[in-house]
Amino acid sequence: MPQHPLTFDQQQFVEELLGRMTLDEKIGQMTQPEKNSVKPGDVARLALGSVLSGGGGNPEENTPRGWRAMVTRFIDEAQQSRLRIPLLYGVDAVHGHNNVVGATIFPHNIGLGATRDADLVRRVGRATALEVAATNVRWSFAPAVSVPQDVRWGRTYEGYSQDPNVVSELAVALVRGFEGDGWNSGTSVLPSVKHFVADAATTWGTSRRVDRATLDVDRTLAIAQMGQDFVELIDLGAWQIDQGDADIDEETLREVHLPPYRAAIEAGALNVMASYSSWRGLKLHGHRFLLTDVLKGELNFQGFVVSDWAGIDQLSADYDACVAQSINAGVDMVMVPFDYERFITSLKRAVQAGQVEEARVDDAVRRILTAKVALGLFERPHTDEGLLNVVGCAAHRELAREAVRKSLVLLKNEGDVLPLDPAGEDILVAGADADDLGAQCGGWTISWMGGRGATTSGTTLLEAIRATAGHDRVFYSANGDVTRDYRVGVVVVAEEPYAEGMGDRADLGLRPEHLDVIERVRARCERLVVVLLSGRPLVITEQLQAWDALVAAWLPGTEGQGVADVLFGLAPFSGRLSLDWLRSAHDSRRTDAMTPLFRMGEGLTSREPVTGA
Ligand code: GLC
Repeated sequence: MPQHPLTFDQQQFVEELLGRMTLDEKIGQMTQPEKNSVKPGDVARLALGSVLSGGGGNPEENTPRGWRAMVTRFIDEAQQSRLRIPLLYGVDAVHGHNNVVGATIFPHNIGLGATRDADLVRRVGRATALEVAATNVRWSFAPAVSVPQDVRWGRTYEGYSQDPNVVSELAVALVRGFEGDGWNSGTSVLPSVKHFVADAATTWGTSRRVDRATLDVDRTLAIAQMGQDFVELIDLGAWQIDQGDADIDEETLREVHLPPYRAAIEAGALNVMASYSSWRGLKLHGHRFLLTDVLKGELNFQGFVVSDWAGIDQLSADYDACVAQSINAGVDMVMVPFDYERFITSLKRAVQAGQVEEARVDDAVRRILTAKVALGLFERPHTDEGLLNVVGCAAHRELAREAVRKSLVLLKNEGDVLPLDPAGEDILVAGADADDLGAQCGGWTISWMGGRGATTSGTTLLEAIRATAGHDRVFYSANGDVTRDYRVGVVVVAEEPYAEGMGDRADLGLRPEHLDVIERVRARCERLVVVLLSGRPLVITEQLQAWDALVAAWLPGTEGQGVADVLFGLAPFSGRLSLDWLRSAHDSRRTDAMTPLFRMGEGLTSREPVTGA
């Protein structure tokens, strides 16, 4: 059981401060608007406890310095409030400080899970925390400790593994990396263990997140800027499973989905984010048994629960009922991206009407203040501006390159075609995705959904292959249409970047344009290597026999050099599948009865690295 995170004197400080707070100030601490919604002066006037940047909630000047200036304005305004309670700014730094142009983008969790290397994940967490803290941010909504069950889910890549033990181990490693030399060390970042609980256990078709009739007034989905593609994506399955219902028994919930929370809390995590999903028909945001009795009772969680983005709104058509039910269930801070004054008014009315006890409000604020005291924010509301030079620094990019190397899983290597010889014959590289930084970073990169193209700075796979084998030996064709033969062809195929339910897909087969490129290269090359950039296993069973080698590269991030290092034997293949690889669409939900094409834990090693290359 975790002991209390504060010293006795610190606990006394919290009680004394709480005793001086008005009801308005307490409710202000429980309120977290999105930065684009906050009116100037409201942080001080309403004593707001937190502000967040949603996915892509970037400053006009999207640079590390521009981020620091934006965040600092909010922090400074909080210092003007009556009690000067420090503001805690939150972002989704889920694979590096991924909204910030120039930041190091690490592999998404599905790739880190394939490394099974807790120390590496701890170092990734530390580097990420330094880049986040450099911008004066001290809270990241990570790690997701989802245990993916149905890989049609658009958030599969946010999960480390289908093995809860691996998820627990890597979540603890990330928490420790975020903590660094101590929560009050000035460069720690508060982790948010999410999404509580069993967010990954939902059933296809049970999500009610999207209503085609209200698409044009959904302010959150508008942020995704999908345009007319949106309806096409919905026809492909978008928002069919994300935020749906987990119809699993309590034993499964406790054995598969709860352990990573217990582990992360015991490692010192002081924030948990509630899940949009429901368990057996009851939304987690209103689930008192799970949020209070289990999380705060059984697991003895001493930190605070934050809602997901407008998550409480889904509880009922009556907003006042949403507020009362979620706070009484155990939500302590509400992420209310847009209408924060409506929330504040509603909660105050509920307290005054006796629908929410003030003792519950006190408990919520005590938990929030506990985290802020643990982070040392009262003594040091700002981080050291000198940290700015670590954002995207060479050492962090080198670390990301190491993580990429270790994340790659070799699933087929007919005739040991891999590793390639850096000094060998001409190589054909094909596929538009081979030279697309956005495609290799995936969702949650610069914008919420991520996007193709040079959205930030890094090394594409093509650039990396050229750097390793020499420009004069590497020939590139985006569509695979070439006029000569090659001994080796490397085709890179990527999923379209996506996040959350926008990535729910009924069909996980390769797209026709990908199959065409592979076919063209197959006809022109003696040996064919396919590199998949994907947030999950894809259905490739039929096509695989025509390929000589298959590398699962997941969503490696900005440091594509890590892929070339292993393709050319400068480092060995060592990654192991972090989840079962489905044989067909019928296998998309993991069951003991299924016979996957490849099992979790599989991964070939290659010959010893080529020396002297
Ligand atoms: C999103 C996600 C959550 C994220 C939050 C803030 O909807 O569900 O993972 O941390 O909102 O962006």
